[in-house]
Amino acid sequence: MAESTLSTATANAKKLSGKVAIVTGGASGIGEATVRLFADHGALMVVIADIQDELGQRVATSIGENKCRFVHCDVSKEDQVKSLVEWTVQNFGRLDIMFSNAGILGNSDQTVLDLDLSAFDHLFAVNVRGMAICVKYAARAMVRGNVRGSIVCTASVAASKGAKRRTAYNMSKHAVVGLVRSASVQLGAHGIRVNCVSPFGLATPMTLQAYKKSAEEIESMYEPSMSLKGVALKARNIADAVLFLACDDSELVTGHDLVVDGGYVNH
Ligand SMILES: NC(=O)c1ccc[n+]([C@@H]2O[C@H](COP(=O)([O-])OP(=O)(O)OC[C@H]3O[C@@H](n4cnc5c(N)ncnc54)[C@H](O)[C@@H]3O)[C@@H](O)[C@H]2O)c1
Repeated sequence: MAESTLSTATANAKKLSGKVAIVTGGASGIGEATVRLFADHGALMVVIADIQDELGQRVATSIGENKCRFVHCDVSKEDQVKSLVEWTVQNFGRLDIMFSNAGILGNSDQTVLDLDLSAFDHLFAVNVRGMAICVKYAARAMVRGNVRGSIVCTASVAASKGAKRRTAYNMSKHAVVGLVRSASVQLGAHGIRVNCVSPFGLATPMTLQAYKKSAEEIESMYEPSMSLKGVALKARNIADAVLFLACDDSELVTGHDLVVDGGYVNH
């Protein structure tokens, strides 16, 4: 008796049973942590879409090809995103969740006074154009399949404030919030929810490479800006927020920017 109650509780704890998800930028950092959490929560299939083929394939293999696949996809290329979504629906029957997370910091570390427009265009191609393309094709598949799906984008606390540098990155994340708000208004009639998650700074390959510091040094760099003390933001904390937005626990939440920042924005 005790055993069967326990297994029911465990089954109920799986929040994504039978769901088909795509995670862009799923080979690394926040995306990888989310892919693993989605798989742990019983997703029927999690498709990693990334440009890092070896890494993406390694993550998929470590989870198991019955639960996770890797597809090469550059999110800034419309034809590649279209094919990714079509392949997913053809092979696994539907698309329930799109976590549009791929993004770059780029080398656009300028103030507006010395904005490098070619770096600006490259960053916008991934962070803004790519995000819009992923929302477009995920939403089309959901509408066509009559799926009341969930789309989650990765914005940033950079969307809540002006920045001293990294003008293009800051602008791109404001654009993600605008995309989410508009798409949520437009897709509500189809039962599709659209939200974003906005992390504060954390140690991932993106920040490790940009700042040339260790994970501990990056966490110490961000710690003074958070009002919550004794904690460090981890990719898993962001994945938990994404899971909430992806699953039915948030069935009445749409058009929302879920900031996960240890109190940074209000600090
Ligand atoms: N790390 C942070 O401090 C932080 C804070 C706020 C927001 N974010 C956002 O979180 C998201 C994930 O970043 P992360 O920190 O996990 O970094 P990461 O570099 O570890 O992961 C990003 C992934 O996106 C992939 N990617 C890059 N360009 C792509 C493209 N054109 N097509 C497909 N995939 C592409 C990369 O190969 C990589 O696997 C980004 O949107 C980033 O802007 C990160």
